[in-house]
Amino acid sequence: MRLDKFLSESTSLTRKEIKKLIKDGAVSVNGSVVKAPETKVSESDGIMLCGEAVSYKKHVYLVLNKPAGYVSATEDRRYKCVTELVPERYAHYGVFPVGRLDIDTEGLLILTNDGTFAHNVTSPKKDVKKRYFARLDRPAKQEDKAVFAAGMEFKDFIAKPAVLEITDDPCEVYAEISEGKYHQVKRMFERVGKTVLYLKRVSVGGLSLPEGSIPGDIYEADGKELEKTINICGKL
Ligand code: URA
Repeated sequence: MRLDKFLSESTSLTRKEIKKLIKDGAVSVNGSVVKAPETKVSESDGIMLCGEAVSYKKHVYLVLNKPAGYVSATEDRRYKCVTELVPERYAHYGVFPVGRLDIDTEGLLILTNDGTFAHNVTSPKKDVKKRYFARLDRPAKQEDKAVFAAGMEFKDFIAKPAVLEITDDPCEVYAEISEGKYHQVKRMFERVGKTVLYLKRVSVGGLSLPEGSIPGDIYEADGKELEKTINICGKL
């Protein structure tokens, strides 16, 4: 791989910044300063940038504010896929969505190429809570909270006890669930006689969308930080 590509994939610097640093003599490969951005390097080379070793990044973690209209898949014949929202510079990593949000659901969706991480976030055994904001067709009632808290039996799975929070506007609620089964939140509201008109995932474990984030926003996160924030480390 080219030296400038290696550095742009392994750091947060832009290709332009990297080219300048290389030209300025800030980069060495196996102890020798290299000034040609096209120099071929591999993962086993000792690459230093401004005196600091740079190791190749194997995994990437992208946090997307999913817009409606995209399916949580890497390819689909009919619909646009969330991977189409991934910036070109991450294309070669082969990221996939961690769990699924319905085509009409918005909100927090992680994309990664780290299968272990994805498993840990989605496995019901790890009990990572997923919190959703929902707008309903009719007001939620206080007694609905008890129905959510008791857990719900469906023909294909049993939903663990969930938390329902009703805002000042009873048609606007938050639901916190432990799993991520097909249409789970919509089905849970159906059970209490409501239809979900709008659904947005606002957090996964301790990870929330940044303030002011809008659908389509995407940023790269550090994997270790993400594990800590989501708080799956204690449950591995
Ligand atoms: N539950 C749903 O019903 N839909 C989603 O997209 C996520 C959870």
